[in-house]
Amino acid sequence: MDKIVIHGGQPLYGKVSMSGAKNAALPLLAATLLAPGLHTLSNVPDLRDTRTMLRLLEILGAHWQRTGSTVTIETSNLTTAEAPYELVKTMRASVLVLGPLIARSGFARVSLPGGCAIGARPINYHLNGFEQLGTVTELKQGYVEVRAENGGLEGGTIYLDKPTVTGTENILMASVYAKGKTVIKNAAREPEIGNLIDMLESMGANIQGKDTDCLTIHGVESLHAATATIIPDRIETGTYMIAVAAAGGEVEITDCIPGHLPALTGKLERCGVDIEVGNNSFKVCCPENNGQNHCRLRSVDVTTLPYPGFATDLQAQFMALMTLATGAAVIHETIFENRFMHVAELERMGADIKIDGGSAVVRGVGRGFLSGAQVMATDLRASASLVIAGLAASGMTEISRIYHLERGYENMIEKLAGLGANIRRVRE
Ligand code: EPU
Repeated sequence: MDKIVIHGGQPLYGKVSMSGAKNAALPLLAATLLAPGLHTLSNVPDLRDTRTMLRLLEILGAHWQRTGSTVTIETSNLTTAEAPYELVKTMRASVLVLGPLIARSGFARVSLPGGCAIGARPINYHLNGFEQLGTVTELKQGYVEVRAENGGLEGGTIYLDKPTVTGTENILMASVYAKGKTVIKNAAREPEIGNLIDMLESMGANIQGKDTDCLTIHGVESLHAATATIIPDRIETGTYMIAVAAAGGEVEITDCIPGHLPALTGKLERCGVDIEVGNNSFKVCCPENNGQNHCRLRSVDVTTLPYPGFATDLQAQFMALMTLATGAAVIHETIFENRFMHVAELERMGADIKIDGGSAVVRGVGRGFLSGAQVMATDLRASASLVIAGLAASGMTEISRIYHLERGYENMIEKLAGLGANIRRVRE
């Protein structure tokens, strides 16, 4: 298994381009199941998770081809409506095929995902939503079977107890052919859902309420194949912004949508990081810690919330930054119950963090006072936080289990090395 080795203390300078968003690519790939024909998706990141989704589409009978970042998918002849355990256990987002499969064929059988490193993550809101559209759900041998009664789905009103991201996407996809009107209340508003709505509309779906918490869908008789572009990855963008703040330097982050990171931008500015916002770029500047040009990062509290609040997917990375600041920051995680797995690893590098329920108090030790160590990645965003800490720490950091990182960051090692980081992959 490979590991990442970082020799910390190098500032980052230059330009780095952002990839397509993992969490947009996954639902958009699943949405190709809705209509027969040849779909073309561009800006699809080549990640472990997107490969898993393409493998799943293949199992369902689709054929695909990748040329650069463009993927074409032919979904005319689906052969099964079952997503097997072997795939779902490696990627929870496999459940995103449920909605399109029930919409297209009235039936889907998907292995129920178990808990994962960051929390229990049930899919009860997805299933309740499908039931409001007239389906019957049964759990058999670890698989959830969803069947449309009376031949097809009927529009209905769904209130989500929490604005679930993939739940909103799944119900949205299930409802596009449902007879009459479907209303999803307390829907999630993440930009990835807007990306999915744009694709569904381009296929002929009738959806109102994009970017709001109330979506109204009028069922249509048929949809045609899509041509769609995946939006830039706002979590990747935020991760690089934080990396520059942690390592020091000046970096232009291109091919991103600055408007998708309102909370992080505000928080970083309060920390003392200079951010210049361009049309499709950020310039992030934080003087390196060289004695003359000392940047004292200030501690800032954050609470994770659904979009447009502070993203839970940036919490671990921001915590790594707060270990370098002056003062104490309270980081409150409200989305997932177990998303502090990175804390014990950051402590191995000298961080001072106390967890109390869903909150963590981080007492910054100052830049240059973390020391490199052998640490273990536990999930995707935790891995990114360890990379950030490693860039800022003195000495060598070795991160094992980097397959987590490969699920969601395209060419991260190459991109950081291109900015001057001393980072490489080695075989264990
Ligand atoms: N929840 C339920 N029941 C449900 C669905 C959700 O109780 O049926 C709870 C969850 O346990 C959680 C909250 O509702 O407490 C919100 O979870 P949500 O459903 O929004 O999460 P998700 O759709 O499973 C997506 C992203 C995650 C991201 C979260 C929150 C994808 C493929 N995944 O997950 O991304 O953390 O939204 O923004 O879009 C990542 O990329 O590292 C990642 C984990």
